[in-house]
Amino acid sequence: MAYAVTLIPGDGIGPEVVGAAVRILEATGIKFEWERFSVGADAFEESGEYIPKELIESIERTRLALKGPVGTPIGSGFSSVNVALRKKFELYANFRPIKNLPGMETKYPNVDLIIFRENTEGLYSGIEHEVVPGVVESLKIITEKASTRISKHAFAYARKFGRKKIHSIHKANIMKLSDGLFLKCSRAVAKDYPDIEYAEHIVDNTCMQLVMNPYQYDVLLMENLYGDILSDLCAAFVGGLGLVPGANIGADCALFEAVHGSAPDIAGKNLANPTAVLRSSLLMLDYLGETKASAQITAALEKVYHEKKTLTRDVGGNAGTSQFADAVIAAMQGA
Ligand code: NAI
Repeated sequence: MAYAVTLIPGDGIGPEVVGAAVRILEATGIKFEWERFSVGADAFEESGEYIPKELIESIERTRLALKGPVGTPIGSGFSSVNVALRKKFELYANFRPIKNLPGMETKYPNVDLIIFRENTEGLYSGIEHEVVPGVVESLKIITEKASTRISKHAFAYARKFGRKKIHSIHKANIMKLSDGLFLKCSRAVAKDYPDIEYAEHIVDNTCMQLVMNPYQYDVLLMENLYGDILSDLCAAFVGGLGLVPGANIGADCALFEAVHGSAPDIAGKNLANPTAVLRSSLLMLDYLGETKASAQITAALEKVYHEKKTLTRDVGGNAGTSQFADAVIAAMQGA
């Protein structure tokens, strides 16, 4: 049996890091049928569409995707295909575990945080217009439905995996209606989970609290924009963006991708760290119930980080993307 997976290598460093992850996944012996598609600017050049309809049809069939980062032009040009895919398939829960790899030294050892980011609305609804020249309006959409389902997802996860505390992160002192509704929904869900401690922190204070003492937090629950920003902040605790994975989960469909972007500054140079995409692939294996393969890769990854001989430049080594992948595969094979 083979798993059909829609594969989106993406652009910038995407093809390099996704290529490395695919090689490592295949080294487990599990069979995958990769349905490979371009998206974004590359797809537009090839087919005149930013999200080709064949790609949509593929995800409709497979309900499973592994994706590299895709660049979005700043200030003009096409809208984010990343946001569009999350909305199209109602991948409402963005799950980002922030955990140190054993052996990898950072300023903050033993961090173990989970970020749950609402993935389908907020300011990322992309509803913007020019009211009159010199005045623009950007709408922040918060709904009871989306706020409740991400809260339920976070609490259910916390109970299942023995997490103790959830902080709902907000700015409801200023955005009383929108963030106020988000809080109202998370409070209502919290009532059904008396076994999990519930607290609320304002987002700006949370940034300071995190840098002072990340250990005071366990699970962080928030709307879209705050989740995007705090994910990058928290990535710094565990060694940077090259290390942090992500999963976009819907009712019966999931798309796995790293937190980082397409890193144009290092693209095409065999410098990118594929660990974040690889760890996203591990979340995919767990989602598929392939926990043995996931544990095999995790052990190999930890060995490579412990030995420190074949690490990429962002974490203090001088190995390339492909050498790092070779080292993980060698460790899996007990070499
Ligand atoms: P970025 O995450 O691409 O890069 C930020 C910094 O982290 C850069 O210095 C980069 O070299 C480094 N970095 C990122 N990933 C790395 C890795 N795997 N190994 C080593 N170093 C790594 O963020 P930036 O520069 O703000 O965005 C670049 C593009 O990526 C933009 O067009 C943005 O829209 C897009 N983007 C796409 C995402 C996605 O597809 N899900 C997510 C975030 C950004």
